[in-house]
Amino acid sequence: MEKTFLMVKPDGVQRNLIGEIVHRFESKGFQLVGAKLMKVSQELAEKHYGEHKDKPFFGELVSFITSGPVFAMVWQGENVIAQARQMMGATNPADATPGSIRGDFAVQVSQNIIHGSDSPESAEREIALFFDESDLISYEKIVNKWV
Ligand code: PPS
Repeated sequence: MEKTFLMVKPDGVQRNLIGEIVHRFESKGFQLVGAKLMKVSQELAEKHYGEHKDKPFFGELVSFITSGPVFAMVWQGENVIAQARQMMGATNPADATPGSIRGDFAVQVSQNIIHGSDSPESAEREIALFFDESDLISYEKIVNKWV
C-alpha cells in the first residue's frame, strides 16, 4: 500500500490545526501509520529541503521549519501521495482552491501550513529521514471495512 510523508509546519501547529488536518485525512479514508510532534534540527531541515538549496528562499525555508514544533506523519492508502497533494492545495495559498487545506487556512507561500511528498521517491526519502522503520505501525481496521 502506498505511503506518504505529511508534516504540519510550525504555523499549523501554532494555529492549532493539527486536529483539523488529521481529521481531514482520517475522514477521507486514509490510515495514519506513524506520527510525532518534534523540533526539526538545522541538519535535518537542510537534508529535507536539499533539492532547493540553490533557491533564493532556501534560508527562509530552513529557518521557518526549524522555528517551532512540527507534527510529522506517515499516511497510507491507495494513491495517497497524489490525493494528499490535492487535499493540501497549491503550494502558493493564493492559488489554492477553497476546500483544500491551504485554500482554507493559509495566505502566504512562506507559511503554507503543511508539507507533503510530491512523488514515490520523495515519500520514501522523507519517511526514512523522519522515521525509523520500527516507528511505523501496520494494522487492520477491524470496526469499519468500508473505507
Ligand atoms: S519549486 O520552486 O517549484 O521547486 O518549489 P516548490 O516545490 O513549489 O516549493 C518548495 C518548498 O519551498 C516552499 N516555497 C517557499 N518558501 C518561502 N518563500 C517562497 N517564495 C517559496 N516558494 C516555495 C514551498 O512551500 C515548498 O515547501 P514544502 O514544505 O515542500 O511545501
